[in-house]
Amino acid sequence: WALGSEVLQNYGCRMASGFWVTIELVLISVLIGFGMALGLAVARLYGPRWARAAVNGYTTFFRGTPLLCQLFLVYYGLGQFRVFWQDTGLWWFFRDPFYCAALTFTVNTAAYQAEILRGAIQAIPRGQFEGAASLGLHRWATLRLVVLPQAMILALRPLGNELIVMIKSSAIASLVTLFDLMGATRLAFARSFDLSIYLYAALVYLVLVEIIRRLWDRIELRLSRHLAL
Ligand code: ARG
Repeated sequence: WALGSEVLQNYGCRMASGFWVTIELVLISVLIGFGMALGLAVARLYGPRWARAAVNGYTTFFRGTPLLCQLFLVYYGLGQFRVFWQDTGLWWFFRDPFYCAALTFTVNTAAYQAEILRGAIQAIPRGQFEGAASLGLHRWATLRLVVLPQAMILALRPLGNELIVMIKSSAIASLVTLFDLMGATRLAFARSFDLSIYLYAALVYLVLVEIIRRLWDRIELRLSRHLAL
């Protein structure tokens, strides 16, 4: 345990605050992304032609290009239009690596989550829709009261995977100068050249992912115990 203990002593504090930046960044992105994804999935399934085409283009772009590329486009790209954003009062937003990363991660994960939700909704048998209709339920009521509660159970596992992917992917926010867990770790390494700091960072990510995985197992068990699966 003497290994790297000095670098940990010197930079442990920064890494701890970086850890909370990572948590905040991922939670904000995944939660807002989930809200967006609900709208996107419904628009993709039941929207008018133009809306379906728009959502298609959206998911094609955000799933088909690297997250890092998207992040650079937002942070270095959108941030360039200083005059424009100043007039709109949004300059502070695109100048800030946290907001840029949060925006990028949100729209990225929304695309993935929308596809997860669409798949889950499509996996609900037709009879559920027909049964709801025969009870006189409206389209929205059917979706909200009958289909989504069942679809969410199907979507839970892939949504958990998405959360885990986003936690690990969030490390790239350190490349636009954000001091998240990875950013603090990179600083510590740049100043100490002690490689063990990356091992500590890896351990923190690993423990975090493992905690979420177990939490998800419990939630899934609880939500599906009424099903004879
Ligand atoms: N490493 C991948 C990339 O750079 C992760 C993208 C985000 N993935 C996701 N499921 N939201 O493109």
